[in-house]
Amino acid sequence: MSTLITNIKFLYQVYDEPPKRLAGTSMSELPYLQDAFLFMKDGLIADFGLMSDLNKFDADHIINAQGKSVLPAWCDSHTHLVFAQSRVQEFVDRINGLSYQDIAAKGGGILNSAQALRTMPEDLLFESAKNRVKKLIEIGTSAIEIKTGYGLDLDSEMKMLRVIKRLKDYFSIAIKATFLAAHAVPKEFLTTESYVSHIIDDMIPVVGSSGLADFIDVFCEKGYFNVNQMERILIAAACHGLQPKVHVNQFNSFGGVATAIKHNALSIDHLEIITEDDITAMKNSESMPVALPGCSFFLGIPYTSGRKLIDEGLPLALASDFNPGSSPSGNLNFVFSLACIKMRLSPEEALNALTINAAYAMGLEQSHGTITIGKKAHVIITQPIEQLSDLPYHFGQNMISNVLINGNLI
Ligand code: NIG
Ligand code: FE
Repeated sequence: MSTLITNIKFLYQVYDEPPKRLAGTSMSELPYLQDAFLFMKDGLIADFGLMSDLNKFDADHIINAQGKSVLPAWCDSHTHLVFAQSRVQEFVDRINGLSYQDIAAKGGGILNSAQALRTMPEDLLFESAKNRVKKLIEIGTSAIEIKTGYGLDLDSEMKMLRVIKRLKDYFSIAIKATFLAAHAVPKEFLTTESYVSHIIDDMIPVVGSSGLADFIDVFCEKGYFNVNQMERILIAAACHGLQPKVHVNQFNSFGGVATAIKHNALSIDHLEIITEDDITAMKNSESMPVALPGCSFFLGIPYTSGRKLIDEGLPLALASDFNPGSSPSGNLNFVFSLACIKMRLSPEEALNALTINAAYAMGLEQSHGTITIGKKAHVIITQPIEQLSDLPYHFGQNMISNVLINGNLI
C-alpha cells in the first residue's frame, strides 16, 4: 500500500538525520520544504522532496494537498484515559469555590475515580477507552501513553493494564503503559507507608513479571507521596526494567525533580511550580520536562514556565494529561494554542514540543515525531493555511483536514 501527497504548501519538520530531541534555542528550528511531496509506503515514510524533483511514483493513492500543509502527527506522552466515568460534579463544585485539593480531602478526586473503576467490568472499560482513543486519532494524535492509577489495588491495577494491552493490540498507533499505583492512597490503607510497602512488595513484582507496563510513575506531591516514598518505588520498579515518568511539582517543589532525575526519569511532568534548584537539576540531565497546560487551564492553576525552561536551554514537551479530574480533554490542538497563548511558546517551539520532544518523552524518538524516511507515516494534513501560526491562532477550531496513520487516511 502506498500513498503520495502532492502540492504540499509547507512540509514541516523534515530531517534526513533527526536529532533525538530539541532544547533551548534549537526548539525554534523547524526545517520545512515549500511546494513539496510526501510518499508513504507500507506504513512508513518512503520519500519526500520538492514537487519540482518529483519523479514518477507508482502510488496506490494520490492526495492533492493544494494550499494545505503537512506535519508529523501529535504524540501524547501523558494521559490517564482509561477511566470509568466523568467527574463533572467536581467540576461544578470547583465552579462553586472548592479547590482540587479541597475535593480530594473530602474523599473525591482520584479516590472517586478509583471507586467507579473497581466495579466497572473490564469490557466496558475497554470500550469506553477505545472510543476516546478513536476520537483522539481523528484529531491528530498518533501515539499515546496511558497510566493506571484509578485501580489502587492489585486486581484493579492489573485490570487497567490489561485494558491498555487490549488498546495496544486493537490500534495500529503506538500505545505505552505506565504503572501508577502511587497515585493516591486507597481508603483501605490507614497510612501512606503501608500502601507504599504494598506497592513495593506485592504489586511491582506482579506487574513487572506480567510485562504489561512500560514505565513507572508516582504522584510526588504534598498529601500524596513524598520524595523518599517515590525513590523507594522507583528503585523497586527499576529491578523490573520500568523507567520513571513522574508527576512532580504540580502544587509544590520539594526535591522530587532532582530525585527523579537521579533515578534516570525519562520524563518529569507537570512542573507548574519550579525553583532554581529544579532548573539546575534539569540541566545536564537526559530527562524531558513535560508541561500539561490543559490541566492548568481546567484547574485554574499556574502554567508551567515553559518560556523560562526553554530560555534556560532546556528541552520541553507538551502533553494533554487527559483525565476526568484535572484535564477532561485529550485535544492536543488546543494544547498547541494554550502553549502559545498562555506559556508564550512560539508556534515552532510548541510544534516541536508536541512532536519530536513528545516522542522522546515516551521512548518513541526513533519512529515518531519528524518527517524522516523510515519513520511511521503518521501525518496531519492541515486546512489551507498561510503560515504555521494559523494553527494555534484559530484556537478551538478544527484546523485539520486529514489525518493519516501508517499512510492510511483516517
Ligand atoms: O496529572 N495529579 C495527579 N494526577 C492527575 C489527575 C488525576 C485525577 O484528578 O484524576 C494529573 O493532574
Ligand atoms: Fe497526570
